[in-house]
Amino acid sequence: MNNQNTGARVWWRVTLWGVTVALLGVMAASLLSQALALAQAEPAVSTATSTTAQTGVSGETMAHTCAACHGTYGRLGDESFMPLAGMPQAQFVTTMIDFREGRRPSTLMGHVAQGFSDAEIRAMGAFFAAVPPQPGVTQ
Ligand code: HEC
Repeated sequence: MNNQNTGARVWWRVTLWGVTVALLGVMAASLLSQALALAQAEPAVSTATSTTAQTGVSGETMAHTCAACHGTYGRLGDESFMPLAGMPQAQFVTTMIDFREGRRPSTLMGHVAQGFSDAEIRAMGAFFAAVPPQPGVTQ
């Protein structure tokens, strides 16, 4: 009887440990798979950004993300902020790459420019150069 009880206790202990270890294993596996999913999501996102030009997002579409500060189509009427409409493409490309590489000091544009590849900057530059600047505003 005593032996049987001890046997049952040992069995329970082994079972409880088994269940505990199995649960920890499941938790670890789920954490691991989440970590792997995150690790896989990162390159997918950056690939999408860096291949924007190849996937057909036009310079015009990218240029619209600048509208909040530089005006719709880069045109600002008589505001004192820098308009982009009509800026020669070469000047635009040099300025953006200088911002991106930290050669030109900036409060915001360094961060903005880091989001774009050379090809994307050229595409936006072509778009802005083709927008007629508003009358009375010179670049
Ligand atoms: C949140 C506001 C903001 C947004 C959005 C923004 N800019 Fe700017 N931009 C600035 C500021 C501020 C400056 C002045 C430099 C600085 O301090 O960063 C500037 C300066 C510039 C200049 C230099 C203008 C000149 O006359 O020399 C260019 C070119 C430019 N931005 C392009 C862009 C482009 C292209 C986008 C969109 C991809 C964009 N900006 C989005 C705020 C913004």
